[in-house]
Amino acid sequence: MQSYKDLIFGESFVDGSWQHASTHKLEVKNPVDLSVIAEIYDEDRAFVATAIQAAHHAFPAWKAKSAKERSAILMAWFDLIIQHKEELATIMTLESGKPLAESRGEVDYGASYIQWFAEEAKRNYGDIIPGYTADKRVMTLKEPIGVVGAITPWNFPLAMITRKVAPALAVGCTVVIRPSEETPLTALAINHLAQLAGFPAGVVNTLVGANASEMGKELCESKLVAKISFTGSTRVGQILMAQCAPTLKKMSLELGGNAPFIVFDDADVDLAVKGALAGKFRFGGQTCVCVNRILVQDKIHDLFVEKFSAAVKALKMGNGLEDGITLGPLINPAAIARMKSMLTDAQAKGGKVILGGQAKEPQFFEPTIVLEATSDMEFAHNEIFGPIAPIFRFKTEEEAIQLANDTIYGLASYFYTNDLNRSWRVREQLEYGIVGINEGLISSETVPFGGVKYSGQGREGSKYGLDSYVDIKYVCVGNVH
Ligand code: SIN
Repeated sequence: MQSYKDLIFGESFVDGSWQHASTHKLEVKNPVDLSVIAEIYDEDRAFVATAIQAAHHAFPAWKAKSAKERSAILMAWFDLIIQHKEELATIMTLESGKPLAESRGEVDYGASYIQWFAEEAKRNYGDIIPGYTADKRVMTLKEPIGVVGAITPWNFPLAMITRKVAPALAVGCTVVIRPSEETPLTALAINHLAQLAGFPAGVVNTLVGANASEMGKELCESKLVAKISFTGSTRVGQILMAQCAPTLKKMSLELGGNAPFIVFDDADVDLAVKGALAGKFRFGGQTCVCVNRILVQDKIHDLFVEKFSAAVKALKMGNGLEDGITLGPLINPAAIARMKSMLTDAQAKGGKVILGGQAKEPQFFEPTIVLEATSDMEFAHNEIFGPIAPIFRFKTEEEAIQLANDTIYGLASYFYTNDLNRSWRVREQLEYGIVGINEGLISSETVPFGGVKYSGQGREGSKYGLDSYVDIKYVCVGNVH
């Protein structure tokens, strides 16, 4: 293994080389102790335009390569990421606070999108359609849409990039990546590995800068960018969509969630506790599919609370680089402030904190359980994105479904039951893009990930993942005699 320091870079990667246009730098801090891990040139809108130009120029040649050639380069990138798993996981833990075991898991998870789409690249089939008159031959071709802007969040510094750019690159698009300024190091490290894998200059570009709104604006407003793929908050998704309207840009949006986790009386309680623990506390509750509201049926409520509390007590909070740590710090002070305000609001409305509830310096928040949660509390309607687990009590199946769907969001949902008929009834009524039944972890490169309602549009991963990056061209050959 190399030292992880060999994979830390201080400039953006544009048109095949490390470059900077800015004269000042931003600091990347470790959320565990706020120490500075690295300084990177802090780029802005004008340099994004330069990167877009590079991606635009690289597009025709990349598109012209055979699917097999593109697939081979993607596969080499996958291999390099796996070879450097330990260094990448260390960098990820340092900049995000994610426990090392989870960072290793994310390297595998993120790399799996590259492997999957390297395979799918060769299956980007069009159709032959029966001619609509005897002398016509009709077909469709799937063509890459062009330059793709990928705007990605800090909670999955690697996987949210690969989930977007692997399908784009597989079909022949070129990409400009704008990673979160809180976790740019993993993004730059994998761009370095992309270069080693053999992507030609201009095909993969990564721009680091703190001015998210101006950088996003350039990507959205540029006539040279064909598509924006964004993962982040619903509020920012709405802003980007408005900015994309004048150029009628295509968009994939993976936005906020408010996942219900329903435990019915007939559920296997131990299985439900295991699922709730994993679904709630993965990366300290900081994922879009994390459990936001735990809804437990009356009869099983106390037993579930007893077992769940015991499991949550066993979580170990600390520096993710240390052995056995299962809960790291939150990403920034705003996250701590949100936890505090949500708890104050819940307690004022009758919520009972039975575990945790305290912030710890500099940026930790204890795993917390709140009982007697109700629909008028802030966390019933807003994404917690942190380690607070509110437990709501319900009496009937109808009430559970009504509570579960009482949100503008529609990304992930979960329920536990051993009743076969109920499992069909409930899955059909949940207004969500993803439903986990007796399962709290639902992420994989093989499945279509995405939401309905205010959780966004489009699907990432799976056999559908290429569709977002192609235009269908219909070709009609006439007068064939
Ligand atoms: C997300 O939080 O946006 C992604 C979660 C996942 O891929 O599991």
